[in-house]
Formats: sequence, structure tokens, C-alpha cells
Amino acid sequence: MGISYNQEARVFRLDTPGSTYLISLVDEMGFVCHAYYGRKIPDDNMNYLLRVNPQFLPFRESGQQTNVLDELPLEYPCHGLGDFRESCLRVETEEGHRVCGLTYLSHKIYGGKPALPGLPATHGGQEDCATLELRCRDEALGLEVSLLYTAFENLDVICRSARIENCGDRPLRLTAALSACLDMDNRSFDLITLHGSWAYERMINRRPLSWGKQGVSSRRGISSHQEQPFLALAERDANQSHGQVYAMHFVYSGNFIAQAEMRQQELVRVVMGIDTESFGWKLGPGESFQTPEAVLAYSSTGLDGMTHALHDLYRRHLTRGPWRDKPRPSLVNNWEATYFDFDSDKLLDIARTAAGRGIEMLVLDDGWFGCRNTDDNSLGDWFVNEKKLPGGLKRLADEINKLGMKFGLWVEPEMVSPDSELFRAHPDYALQIPGRSPMLSRTQLVLDLSREEVRRCVYDQLHKVLSSANIEYVKWDMNRSLTDVAGFCLEADRQGELFHRYVLGVYDLQERLLHDFPDLLLENCASGGGRFDPGMLYYSPQIWTSDNTDAIDRLRIQEGTALIYPLSTMGAHVAACPSHTNGRVTPFETRGLVSLPGCFGYELDLTKLTGEELDMIPGQLENYRKYGPVFHGGDYYRLASYGENQEYDALMAVSKDKRVAVVDYVHVMSRQQRRSVLLALRGLDEEKRYRSSESGEIRSGAGWMYGGLLLPTMKGDFLGKLIVLEEV
Ligand code: GLA
Repeated sequence: MGISYNQEARVFRLDTPGSTYLISLVDEMGFVCHAYYGRKIPDDNMNYLLRVNPQFLPFRESGQQTNVLDELPLEYPCHGLGDFRESCLRVETEEGHRVCGLTYLSHKIYGGKPALPGLPATHGGQEDCATLELRCRDEALGLEVSLLYTAFENLDVICRSARIENCGDRPLRLTAALSACLDMDNRSFDLITLHGSWAYERMINRRPLSWGKQGVSSRRGISSHQEQPFLALAERDANQSHGQVYAMHFVYSGNFIAQAEMRQQELVRVVMGIDTESFGWKLGPGESFQTPEAVLAYSSTGLDGMTHALHDLYRRHLTRGPWRDKPRPSLVNNWEATYFDFDSDKLLDIARTAAGRGIEMLVLDDGWFGCRNTDDNSLGDWFVNEKKLPGGLKRLADEINKLGMKFGLWVEPEMVSPDSELFRAHPDYALQIPGRSPMLSRTQLVLDLSREEVRRCVYDQLHKVLSSANIEYVKWDMNRSLTDVAGFCLEADRQGELFHRYVLGVYDLQERLLHDFPDLLLENCASGGGRFDPGMLYYSPQIWTSDNTDAIDRLRIQEGTALIYPLSTMGAHVAACPSHTNGRVTPFETRGLVSLPGCFGYELDLTKLTGEELDMIPGQLENYRKYGPVFHGGDYYRLASYGENQEYDALMAVSKDKRVAVVDYVHVMSRQQRRSVLLALRGLDEEKRYRSSESGEIRSGAGWMYGGLLLPTMKGDFLGKLIVLEEV
């Protein structure tokens, strides 16, 4: 088991294959201290790192008490007792007092990992992981907190959360309940975060860690296009394959903070959890609050190590269900093909063309329900528009099934249009404040999913729709941020709970859906990539990456996404040209190459393609069939970044048995007199011999990695090549 307690040293150790995490109880006041996290070490006696006895303080010797909390590295810092950095837990009493301090009470260590009620979380059995539950207490408040740590056996990952219980007899109010903290000395760290906007999600930003607080957060009600609930600290000289990296990622789909803070003595504190400004939670006597989970990953082999740990964790221990390990069907989605302007005949035309080329599924996007022909009405009215689809979804799905294809459907269950039957019948179902006109966005309002009756109303409709036809895939969309966040049914002192209760409501709905339709393939989406977070991956093994479907813009979006998410989670489609996003013209072949590593599909009117383009589809699908499993199940390496070099882009995936490697290269901008590009490959077996599909040459893994792969020179912009290396 990867977790043990050294009673003599009063140290808990959590070991993963390449890392050690030490928690110390050595502090005389009983605070739970953080002693060490980093490369694997055999020692338990690392308490000298705490510096609890600063020798330089003369009065220390005279027995005078000093504020030890000011600099002590802590596991779950609170407030009001002398730690002036960010707190994980903030509590207010009925009298308005705001002081809290946790000291050790007891602990349990066991194999496996408990589920977090109502929340998404990583999972693992006795053979996969071990868990430490450290129980702490604030005597004066009657508050107890269990800190949960799970160490995975085969991954350099530790998952953390906290369960906070009011064991006293008076109500308490939580004003912060974060999930994890990591206190460290600065080691010339860079801070890495992912930022963006609609259609430009997850752009990588790396900058030196500086004084004060810095980080990312969302108060939009969703994890958002703008910020990703992730941060990493990388040693300044760390690169793809070298150096130490500490990452934190939040398994949650609502408001969050991810923050690094550097204070006196270059002490660094990293925290992650539910955003504090938009949060408040009343904890009555006997009640408890479970925080969502934060994933900590450590790598001593640069960003590759971090990426691989997160990819493997999410593929094996976060996603669930029958689709987790199955090849995902290639699809054609009608959104950019028709928008709202379709009927059964048009869809069947597309389906016939798709079936003839081997595409496996047709996804019917927005516009099939209520009287929706524009985006300003009918959300909430989840019954089929028979004018467009006579015979309903059943007849359409049957026709599509007859062509040998699966049928999938778009829904946006969290929303209501003011112009809808649902809103006219139940205006109070929408989030809004009496006497104030709610802010519309895409002419829609958000349903108060914290309420069971609202969830039931939506769910009953969904259940009926999904039972009415053979629907094997659902794209669950969410097209606006939350505003006017007020609940009709919550008391005044509980209004601060609404954002989180909303997210719990979404999770509850998706859980019900998967329970009742266990074979369903779910793809989450929020105006493109606005809800690409680990929380959503617990319900859907794939997520729509971005509404930006231009192949060249997608390079950077997918690079940022793949830094922390497996390629098997990224919806990626060959879209129309000129691009509906930015008007760019790119070859059909290149669009195929850019989409290939993800969950592959088409999002254009297939009936309008040229014969030459149509003829390319079977080849693209064949590549997806053959190499999709390598991209989706293998180890991913970023070889070159167009975002950095402004010229070309390359990624690589190596199958776990290292017998096949695929290099996906996009030559973006031509340059005069460019020598051919040399790519140093990674991840191959040095000893094995591989043949290149491009040149036919056979060379050792060492040769391909240390000599490099010479790419063919290309004239023109937006070209590309797929190069396969197979063991001979
Ligand atoms: C969002 C999605 C798109 C499409 C539209 C439909 O923007 O990201 O893919 O489904 O909604 O309205």
C-alpha cells in the first residue's frame, strides 16, 4: 500500500511510483503540517523542512511564544490565528466571529477510494490506490474536518478533498471550503495556466511566478472558456521532457479558484477549490459539506510526465461506462451543415452520403424541438417538431439505422427560452430575482437546477425523448453563463449556496441519464469548449473542444487541451471551408489531419463536397480506425507548437506497447528556403526497430529519437502529413 504512518516520527507518507508526499504532525501545537512533496525519497524524517524552530529568533530561546503559523507549511490552512496567506477553510459563527484552526484528531488508512456523494471524482479499487483520512478538529467551533488523500499505485497522482462536519450544536457558516493546498519554497517556479475566450479556449500561458497572488478563477457558474481549473508550477528550466512540474486540476464544473501565492521568505502556497467570493454555505448542527476533488500530479520528467499522469488518470480512473475504452464512432453533425434549416429529407441526404463513405453516426443538432427555427425560442420544450421531422425521431432514427448508422441527438437541458411553453407555465423555474429583469444571453435563461421539481420536469421530458427512438449518443449543450443567481426556494442565508447547488443539480441529471440509459455515449459541450473540465469527464468520456472548427486555429486550442486532457476526450470535426469561424481556406486533407487525433467527425454538408473530397473520406476513416486507438490509448507527446514557432505543428502518440507511433504534422506557414524540419521523436523503445510509412526507412527507436525524423519539404501553406512508425 502506498500510504503509511510512522508513529515515532509522527509522519504520514504517501508514495506513488515516482513521488513522495509527507504530512507531519510534529508541530507541538498539533497543526497538520506539510513536510515534503517531490521526487521519491525513502526518508520519513524530513521535518527539518518545516523550520518550526527558527534559530534566528533570539526570544525563541527565552521560551517566549511566537506566531509559528506565519510561515508554517500546512495541509489545510484556516484563518484568524496568524496564518495570513490564503485559507482553505473560513468559518463564521452566529456571533459573526471569524477564527478557525484545525488540529489533528485521528486517522484511517485503507485500500481503494471512497466515492464523493453527489460529486464526480476519480475512482479506483484496492489494487489501484490507497486512501488516508486525516481527521482534524477545531474544539471551540465544534467543527471536524476529514482531509482525504488518495495515492495511486501506478500514477504520480494524489487526489485530495475535504469533508467538513458541524459536530457542535450551533449553526456555522462556511465562507471558504477549498479542496487542496500545497505549501512549498519557491524554486524559481514558472506558473502555467490556460486562458481563452469563446472559440479560443485553453491557450497556454507560462510566466515567472511572482510576489503576491496570481492565478485563475471563474464566477460564471461554469468552469468556462476563459479559464481552466488548472495550474502548474514548473521549474524555470523545465521543458517538455526535463525538470520538475507540480500540477493541480479541479474535478469540478462550476466556479473555482486556482491560485498561487508567493509571500515572505519566498514561501509559495498553491490552493484550489470552489470560488470563495460567490460561495457561502450554512452548516447546521450534524450537517456536513463535501468539497469537490483536486488532482495533484508531480513530474520529474517535465511536462510530458505531468501530461501522461493526467491522461492515464482520466482515461482509467475518471471516465466510466462502456464507452470508456471503446473506439468512439466517427460522426457527421448537421450544425454547420444546415444550422436550423433542415428537415428529414435533408438529414437523410446527408446520412446517405455519410453511410456510403463509411461514417458511423449522424448527430442531429439544435432545432429539432418545439418551434425552434432560430435560437430565440423553445428551449425547455423537449418535444419533436413534426413539421420538420414527420413521424418524429423514431422514423428518422429508424431510417438512419437502416443505412447502418447510429443516430445521436443534441439537447440543452439546463436552459429555458422566455418564448417557450415551459417558461409560460413555470416562470419561477428560471434563475431570476423578483422585480429585476433577468439578463438574457442568446435570448435564454438558466433553469434553477438546484430544485428537484425543476430537474424532474426536465428529466421526464428527456427520458421520454430518449425512449422514443434508438438514440445512442447525446450532445449535452449549455450555451450561457449564470447571472441573476437567486433561488425562489432558498432562504436568504442560503443564497450563497446556489451556484454550487446548481452544479450538483447538473451532476444529478447526468447521473440519472447514465443510470437509465447505460449504453448511451454522452458528449458534453458548452458553447463549444466552455465546460471542458474533469468534472464533466466523469459523465461523458468526450467533450466538444471548441466552436472554432477552423483547422489552423484548432491547432493551438487542441495543444492547450491535450496538455492536460487525453486525446480521446476531444471532439474534433472536419468542418466547412471557407471556415464558418474565420473564413480561412484550408485543404480537406489538412482538416482531416487536425481532427484525426480526437473524437473524429465531420461537421459540414457532405452533399456539397466535391467528388475528390468525398473520395478522401474513406481514407481518413481508415486512418481513424487504425490509428485512433494509438492516439486515444497511447502516450501523447507534443513535438512542435505552431503557437510558439509560428510555422509548424507536430504531435505524436506512441502505443503503450511501443510498437506503433503516429506523428501528426501540420506545415502551417511556408517559409522561403526552409530546410526540411527535423523532429526529435520521443517515447519510442530505443532497441526496437521501426519502419517509417513516409520514407520506408528502418531505424532503431534510438535513431529516430536522437537523430530525429526528417520531414518532407512542403511548398504552400496549411499542408500536412501523417507519418506512422511501425515496429518491424
Ligand atoms: C453551441 C454548440 C454548437 C451547436 C450550437 C447549437 O454553440 O457549441 O456546436 O451545437 O450550440 O445551437
